[in-house]
Amino acid sequence: MNSNRKLESQLSSALLLINIGELLTLRSQIKSGPRRGADLKELGTINNGAVLCLGGKITSVGTTKDALSDPWLKKNRKKITEIDCANKVVVPGLVDSHTHPVFISPRLVDFQKRIEGASYEEIAAAGGGIRSSLKGVRQAAKSALVDKVLAKLREMAAHGTTTVEAKSGYGLTLESEFKSLEAIHKAASQWPGTVISTLLGAHVVPKEFQGRSQDYVEIVCKEMIPQTARRKLADFVDVFCEKGAFTSAETEQIFEAAEQHGLKVRAHMCQLSETRLQPFLRFKPASFDHMDHVSDQDIAELAKHDTVATLVPGANYFLGLKEYPRARKMIDAGVPVALATDYNPGTSPTLSMPMAMSLASTHMKMTPAEAIAAATINGAWALRLADRKGSIEAGKDADFAVFAVNDHREIPYWFGANRCETTIMGGAITPHHSDVIRLRN
Ligand code: NIG
Ligand code: FE
Repeated sequence: MNSNRKLESQLSSALLLINIGELLTLRSQIKSGPRRGADLKELGTINNGAVLCLGGKITSVGTTKDALSDPWLKKNRKKITEIDCANKVVVPGLVDSHTHPVFISPRLVDFQKRIEGASYEEIAAAGGGIRSSLKGVRQAAKSALVDKVLAKLREMAAHGTTTVEAKSGYGLTLESEFKSLEAIHKAASQWPGTVISTLLGAHVVPKEFQGRSQDYVEIVCKEMIPQTARRKLADFVDVFCEKGAFTSAETEQIFEAAEQHGLKVRAHMCQLSETRLQPFLRFKPASFDHMDHVSDQDIAELAKHDTVATLVPGANYFLGLKEYPRARKMIDAGVPVALATDYNPGTSPTLSMPMAMSLASTHMKMTPAEAIAAATINGAWALRLADRKGSIEAGKDADFAVFAVNDHREIPYWFGANRCETTIMGGAITPHHSDVIRLRN
């Protein structure tokens, strides 16, 4: 391509966000790992900011004044798509690092039973819970699963999410787990954001293996994981390590198989009861998720590692629990903390990261600034994607969420309403919620 044509094509994909009331860059001096302690609240704010993007990447970040005095921009500005972000807050595209979007039906019977007093564990023991979502996925055509996942990815984007981790885990046969992962890939290929896929074949022991959990674990380790790796269907392997699901020994066995086949690991940990975490750290898990029942000793241990504690307060809210994970204790001890929705039909049917951030502020005493960092840069770390995602810095992907608010604290403040006005993924604009704009005028 000659240099003129190259410049023309670059300009046609160029994007300038300008006059940004609060530009939260989340840039950091510390490059060596996820945010911890006092660094979690450092938003790297630029008032009246501007961001220039070319070819889906961020090329420069600074003030509007500096951008407008740039000779190159002065010359080419008319050819560049521009978004005026006056009186708005722009954040890095939100990273939802824990979701279970491959299911067919909402679990309304469980919902009703819980309202009437049953617990999550009681409902699962009586045949509800995860096992009751299996039939729908096993019987579904792959195209039906693709439609479900794609619809949710689009809805997530409307709430500011641009990177999503999506798990299988409601099939629990070889065929239905692969079908679920393929559906994630197919949906992802039709969405401009970024999707990381996770095999959660070890979600629960399916009924046909009742009393023979070791036989099921063998299938996970010797068939599901190797085939998933060979077919490049997932980046991560996840395990629900809990009473009634998989033991610590089984989790280690599954992690070993994942490691052997070159897949990274993460796990649902300490959701309903305490599990010792230290023995798993040798696998360098990217993340331990839920973390409601973690000992002080493990909190001190985690502070020395890059395994992120991903908190999912939507699950606590939806299960009607009084207790939430000890976010304050973890942050103050130096544990890197991320936030995610845990979008799933049983415990957290929300796909709104701003809702998760609001719950983090009101129930876990995370400040709005900490919640924003946990939902962006530390979410990116929890997916081991921080070289591309989670902050607004030159060289990173052009992923942004534009909120129709004046102050970043309004993002968790207006709970239950969507104030995200525009989402940008790889430099591509998805506008939505024109009603938000009207509301402000
Ligand atoms: O993250 N805890 C295990 N998995 C999900 C719940 C799945 C379900 O109930 O369907 C969770 O909460
Ligand atoms: Fe989960």
